[in-house]
Amino acid sequence: MAATPTVQVIDSGAAIAVTFKGGQTSRFHAIWLRDNAWDDKTRSPGNGQRLITLGDIPPGTSIASAKTESGRLLITFAPENKAVPYDLEWLEAHAYDRPLPKTRGWLTPEVESWDARLNSNVPSGDFTALKSRPAALRDWLHAVRRYGFGKITGGPVENGALFQVAALFGYVRETNYGRHFEVRTEVNPSNLAYTGLGLQAHTDNPYRDPVPTVQILYCLENSATGGENMVVDGFRAAERLRDENPRGFDLLTRHCARFEYAGSSGVCLRSRRPMIELAPDGELVAVRFNNRSAAAITDVPYADMADYYAAYRRLGEIIDDTSMEVTFKLSPGESFLVDNTRVLHARKGYSGAGSRWLQGCYADKDGLLSTLAAMELQDKEAA
Ligand code: FE2
Repeated sequence: MAATPTVQVIDSGAAIAVTFKGGQTSRFHAIWLRDNAWDDKTRSPGNGQRLITLGDIPPGTSIASAKTESGRLLITFAPENKAVPYDLEWLEAHAYDRPLPKTRGWLTPEVESWDARLNSNVPSGDFTALKSRPAALRDWLHAVRRYGFGKITGGPVENGALFQVAALFGYVRETNYGRHFEVRTEVNPSNLAYTGLGLQAHTDNPYRDPVPTVQILYCLENSATGGENMVVDGFRAAERLRDENPRGFDLLTRHCARFEYAGSSGVCLRSRRPMIELAPDGELVAVRFNNRSAAAITDVPYADMADYYAAYRRLGEIIDDTSMEVTFKLSPGESFLVDNTRVLHARKGYSGAGSRWLQGCYADKDGLLSTLAAMELQDKEAA
């Protein structure tokens, strides 16, 4: 039952306990509250940026008094004798007094892992709608954040059209492969991606640090036999490995693999990162998997190397399991985007008959998420 919010000073002023109107009680430290004050001496009213450093706040800051009043919390801090109002809704949304997640490899609620069952519901948007209707773009970006990939149909069939996809949410990330790269059969390929061979599902360029976080592949011609694209959720693969072999999962998260690419003159890219990356609190944040650019692994203790390799092999088997695949064949003017920190992509082999021409480029996930978050904020404010 909804109640009037209440506040109690606890631990001799080192903290408060707030009971919100829904009945939930959360504690907040004096130093945290003071650092997160929104008065115009602490935060710029214009851009919201903090105007002080932690060093400007006395180390012995405590709460002299606290009360709730008309939806706000009023706190007076000692020794500054500074009174600051807080929005209770903001405080409730930023409460940190909760148990730590226990599962290693947990996912943020914005993300949902998937397998081949998503074939019946591939996230997809129409190019014209995405360009002209903000709500369509917001829904598509929301799906990309949730599932880590999305298709776009109905785009123009013209050289460089992929840049228009990147411009929907951000900017192209240029690399040594250029601002974009061509994906079609070459006689002397500088990279296996440019042949007709099938490729095992992989994340791109794990030898970069940071990796390109978004990849766009745009189809301009596709009359060859085969050559379907497929995507696999690296997060679901990691979860499966964890559930069937916790020690193997642990080894792939706790030790760095190494990746390298030195296939072109003047290029020698190297990285040292785990295949499955967790945040310090166990959140699953990234997967790197690419057989072609895996370098010698030298950061696993001798005693663990055999088990590490068994886990690496098993992760590959899970990734190759057809029950994990979402598959689609792109027609000219169609494209797809992957979150390259999470979703692996692959291509089935294709024959020399007909032609297959895709253009690819990289972009940045932070820009994509920023565009989406700004749209969501705008919608919230308008509501
Ligand atoms: Fe690739």
